[in-house]
Amino acid sequence: MKVNLNTFDGLATPCYVLEERRLRRNLELIKSVAKAADVEIILAFKAYALWKTFPIFREYICSTTASSLYEARLASEEFGSKAHTFSPAYTDYEIDDIARCSSHLTFNSLSQYARLHDRARLANDSVSFGLRVNPEYSEVGTALYNPCAPGTRFGVTADKLPDRLPDDIDGFHCHCHCESGADVFVRTLAHIKEKFSKWFGQLKWINFGGGHLMTRKDYDIPLLVKTLNDLHRDYPHLNIILEPGSAFAWQTGSLVSQVVDVVEDRGIKTAILNVSFTCHMPDCLEMPYMPAVRGAEAIEGGCGAEAAEPCVYRLGGNSCLSGDFMGLWRFPAELKIGDNVIFEDMLHYTTVKTNMFNGITHPSIALAHDDGTLEMLKVYAYEDYKNRMD
Ligand SMILES: Cc1ncc(COP(=O)(O)O)c(C=O)c1O
Repeated sequence: MKVNLNTFDGLATPCYVLEERRLRRNLELIKSVAKAADVEIILAFKAYALWKTFPIFREYICSTTASSLYEARLASEEFGSKAHTFSPAYTDYEIDDIARCSSHLTFNSLSQYARLHDRARLANDSVSFGLRVNPEYSEVGTALYNPCAPGTRFGVTADKLPDRLPDDIDGFHCHCHCESGADVFVRTLAHIKEKFSKWFGQLKWINFGGGHLMTRKDYDIPLLVKTLNDLHRDYPHLNIILEPGSAFAWQTGSLVSQVVDVVEDRGIKTAILNVSFTCHMPDCLEMPYMPAVRGAEAIEGGCGAEAAEPCVYRLGGNSCLSGDFMGLWRFPAELKIGDNVIFEDMLHYTTVKTNMFNGITHPSIALAHDDGTLEMLKVYAYEDYKNRMD
């Protein structure tokens, strides 16, 4: 099927549309940063794991990061290289398989390391062990995404680390960013160095986690490259790894939905769509943030007065959750049944997080080639819903 990638006219059912051209643009940029800064930049599956597109990724990057057995298997079996794995808690019944699928395995605590490192080594004698450390500094404002908030369950703080690390710990892993700029990395790195540089001589690698949003328009790439090159100068023996997720899929496509009904209560018009915020765009409600809708103007913090305007709508999901709505948005014309409503930038943290609550039909997932041809990667069916539960 061929569509106009601006309007998606003719598309009658909901679909996540990943645009190959935009994806390649991000991949080019990420590859160029990795080269300029002499670091490894790997894809975090937690943000994006559309495995049928992995052949495209393989043209630009060599590795991925996993946070569970299934992600580690996907890395090994579909991406074609073992994963850099971190999980807050490995279990006895999965550690062997996880180790087999991993080139790097980071433990979240000294107790996890002590209990499981021998077993992991037995399962894979070439795996490189790391320890997640927590610098107790993060500029992430949203508590839900702040790994360094007091009482955090992530990583070992400097006061709990022995002067001499266990011999088979090769690396530190440190994740403290979320959609952050290079300036945040500079400030955070100062804290990391202050707390942990005394151990750097004992390490082979350091992984600075995700959240480096280098594909965002205003991201200061020269500053990131300079910061990393300065670090190489000071610690030439350290391999540096970054594992962003969002940066790969940032602005690479949309979720195309259709208007199914328009209802009104107390002056508020809600266009009910064939997608759901809670099922298909969960971060909108969790973060929360108001997604951009193509051609419409978001009325942030709308006081309600705007709702009386003829083309201003709430957008409502098709689940039974009362709070499955957002808005208001001002559209250029009144919405009609069947109109497309296109949510921008819906390729990261969506398809990996969606659910089948209420048995709502899951939007299809398509890869759009440059000429507008849609290659369907996945069309969901009743069996996908049924098979999850029995
Ligand atoms: C340990 C770790 N690595 C990488 C990432 C990817 O972060 P992002 O998608 O924001 O780049 C996350 C996100 O939560 C994470 O927790």
